[in-house]
Amino acid sequence: MPNLGVNIDHIATVRQARLGADPDVMTAAVHAEMGGADCITVHLREDRRHIQDADVRLLRQSISTRLNLEMAATDEIIAIALEVVPDQCTLVPERRQELTTEGGLDLATHRDTVAAAIDRLQGAGIPVSLFIDPDVAVVEEAARLGARAVELHTGEYAAHPGRPQLARLTEAMEAGLAAGLTVHAGHGLGYETAGPLAQVPGFSEFNIGHSIICRALFAGLMEAVAEMKGLVRYDGNDPRGIRGNRPPKR
Ligand code: PXP
Repeated sequence: MPNLGVNIDHIATVRQARLGADPDVMTAAVHAEMGGADCITVHLREDRRHIQDADVRLLRQSISTRLNLEMAATDEIIAIALEVVPDQCTLVPERRQELTTEGGLDLATHRDTVAAAIDRLQGAGIPVSLFIDPDVAVVEEAARLGARAVELHTGEYAAHPGRPQLARLTEAMEAGLAAGLTVHAGHGLGYETAGPLAQVPGFSEFNIGHSIICRALFAGLMEAVAEMKGLVRYDGNDPRGIRGNRPPKR
């Protein structure tokens, strides 16, 4: 059974919409852990659109499970990872304009950059996972680069669930295990698609964010509205002690 890494970036996205303190990322991590998360995953993007440096530092100090830091292989972010020492760094491609991580790492084009990042991070004792497309040749290249793990991109499977995509992921996963890698999977997985993939033995961890946060909104929205409705009901006691200002009699 794969471990569940819960990506809480979207909590920080909502917080950054007001640049305030709510919703609190640390509370989200604790709730995720209480729900059974085996790992908390955050992506410290170069543009800091959601998770901030301080979040990563606080999570490192406060969570009781593992911290998986998704990151681009840039000097700035590597320096933060070396300071914070997450339990795992997942190297991902990053483009400023994208809405979310859109594809796996291009190991042919960025071979040297990725290899140098692996050396620096693993040299400091932080295992590195490479987020790659589910392709046997790319998995084998990841192993040659010395990464400890790969995370197979499940976006295509999530968009077109079915045997062909499951077979592609299974083949890539088995190639990873044969090459001595730990194999994770993630991106776009939802309540319909995570279960069937978990039935394929061999995956160590799934990283899931968007679908869980979406489900959480609707699991809690009715209760949140009911609570506020209870508070805004006029009870005849004006808190300023002023008489009058009564609602019209029905
Ligand atoms: N894995 C990686 C490498 C990602 O970049 C993301 C998105 O940040 C996820 C998993 C989670 O994807 P989703 O939010 O679609 O579940």
